[in-house]
Amino acid sequence: MIFTVAIDGPAAAGKGTISRAVAKRFGFRHLDTGLLYRAVGVKGGDPAEAARKLRPEDLERGDLRTLEAGQAASRVAAIPEVRAVLVEFQRRFARGEGGAVVDGRDIGTVICPEAEVKLYVTASPEVRAHRRWLEVGGDEGRVLAEVRERDARDMARAVSPLRAAEDAVVIDTSELGIAEAVELAISVVRERLPRG
Ligand code: DC
Repeated sequence: MIFTVAIDGPAAAGKGTISRAVAKRFGFRHLDTGLLYRAVGVKGGDPAEAARKLRPEDLERGDLRTLEAGQAASRVAAIPEVRAVLVEFQRRFARGEGGAVVDGRDIGTVICPEAEVKLYVTASPEVRAHRRWLEVGGDEGRVLAEVRERDARDMARAVSPLRAAEDAVVIDTSELGIAEAVELAISVVRERLPRG
């Protein structure tokens, strides 16, 4: 069976949690595509070269989840050549045998427009910044500024900007508990699975 669940949305909206839960529930493979851009961002040097030379072990680095790595990822993600290098790997993962959950910014719009399920997970900038702040600590105002800056860059870039696909189901987690959001996502996937 080939079955792709594309999950897009801004930083800290709950994509990761929902993606992992959906993958676990249905036994699908999971790819967090943000990690690819983070790994390229922290490598330094020429970003397109870093993308071409990306190895599986680069995704295991311990410093990929920091705010700095997120900003570096968002910057290299605006470079068309970097995106072009990473497209094939993501497509192959998404359309491989056995069902896949792929989360990112452009999965339902560019990487896999034929995905059987498209979810767009979002929440207000304040709610997302608060969640990120609970994880990373520091000054909450700075975390909010960082969230807004990254949203602006990810949504305004010329190539593959962050936006919901027209046929995406929008899940707004501003006022939805994470357990409810996960249940909603699971019910959408269950409805679309081939029967029998
Ligand atoms: O999901 P994340 O916070 O790990 O993503 C980090 C950055 O990578 C994000 O700000 C934009 C970029 N990104 C992207 O442009 N396209 C993707 N499919 C995933 C991430």
